[in-house]
Amino acid sequence: MSTEVWQQRAERVIPGGVSSNVRLLSPRRFFTHGSGARLWDVDGRAYVDYLLGQGPAFLGHGHPVVTAAVAEAVAKGMVYGAQHPLEVEAAERFVEAVGWAEQVRFGVSGTESDHAALRLARAVTGRRRVVRFAGTYHGWLDSVLIDYQRGWPAPASAGQPTDALADWLVVPYNDPTTLADVFDRYPDQIAAVILEPVMCNAGVIPAEDGFLQFVRETCTTAGAVLIFDEVITGFRLGLGGAAEYYGVTPDLAVYGKALAGGWPVSALAGSADLMSELGTGRVNHSGTFNASVMAAAAVSATLQVLTEDPPYARISEHGTRLMRDLAELGDNHGFPLRIQGVPAAFHVGIALDPDDTKPITDYDGLARLDLQQYAKLTADFAEQGLWVAGRGVWYVSAAHTDADADAAVTAVDAVLRSKS
Ligand SMILES: Cc1ncc(COP(=O)(O)O)c(C=O)c1O
Repeated sequence: MSTEVWQQRAERVIPGGVSSNVRLLSPRRFFTHGSGARLWDVDGRAYVDYLLGQGPAFLGHGHPVVTAAVAEAVAKGMVYGAQHPLEVEAAERFVEAVGWAEQVRFGVSGTESDHAALRLARAVTGRRRVVRFAGTYHGWLDSVLIDYQRGWPAPASAGQPTDALADWLVVPYNDPTTLADVFDRYPDQIAAVILEPVMCNAGVIPAEDGFLQFVRETCTTAGAVLIFDEVITGFRLGLGGAAEYYGVTPDLAVYGKALAGGWPVSALAGSADLMSELGTGRVNHSGTFNASVMAAAAVSATLQVLTEDPPYARISEHGTRLMRDLAELGDNHGFPLRIQGVPAAFHVGIALDPDDTKPITDYDGLARLDLQQYAKLTADFAEQGLWVAGRGVWYVSAAHTDADADAAVTAVDAVLRSKS
């Protein structure tokens, strides 16, 4: 059955034909399987994949070690509503890999672990307000989803109560002065600062030199909890994630995506001191499927692979080459492609002003890009067998090879040639 037929069937029984609103933005494809960095659709077309399910397929699709571990775990009963040895082993491996954290609670989605982090921060400080940065994404719940374009505190969804957002203080990223002002304005009221250490959800904007150190010191001085949302950066920038990459230690951090080789697992980690509030039961964190047998097996297997054969140098080389090649293609075709981020996750945009080559350092800077034109290009990329996100981010996996990069460059070349 063809894509068109599947699409008609999907649209009859699934709203919009998709199971997550993020996918409304992508061209419709129905994939039958994936292997390594490649995907195949119902029409038999092959794609080189730099979307990786929005990040989780960090080891590539169907990694044999993770697949075997999960298959073995499935046969053992799946959920016990009790503890099991695999869960303890996964937590031990996690704490060892991350380096700075002493304890971890596993969950299912990044959204819910972010929620747990915010609750814990409010509980330990006895304060309500939380600082975040324009452009970051911390899940889709009422209390965190913000439409930054409409100003603060604008809900990003119909049905979302505005007062759910009342405790947020939104400041520009990479702007220490405004952050300091906010702390001056609300003394002893700020429970936490939460941030994406590389703002992958908005232009893949890295923290500028010294910014995270400044945030760390500000939180320490004010008695606020520093939360790194490492849902994308965790295990992607290195085993120790962005905390290791930038040499800045948060009080709490949230992980997901790359953590479990594609299996749905998230984690909230921190010092034993803070995390013990969950252990005493004073702060509630629950979930039927937390640390299921398969989830624990997937985490253990993924962390075993990442520890025994760290892919980070390879990924860095691959991403650096791709960023360079894409920039060159833009130049060759007179297309003002602007590429920034880190090799493991970078952003491709089209500058509105071809002479504008300044890096984008905060959310407002994204107005200098034609995001819609780029999103349209990604539909053409898909026609050429390249699967990337419409919002501009490219994710590199441990499975990508030079041949995959070559295929991506050929696809982009063909599309830009046809447009210039
Ligand atoms: C930085 C960040 N935090 C939280 C989330 C929410 O994670 P999930 O989609 O697993 O709920 C995402 C998802 O993309 C994310 O990128």
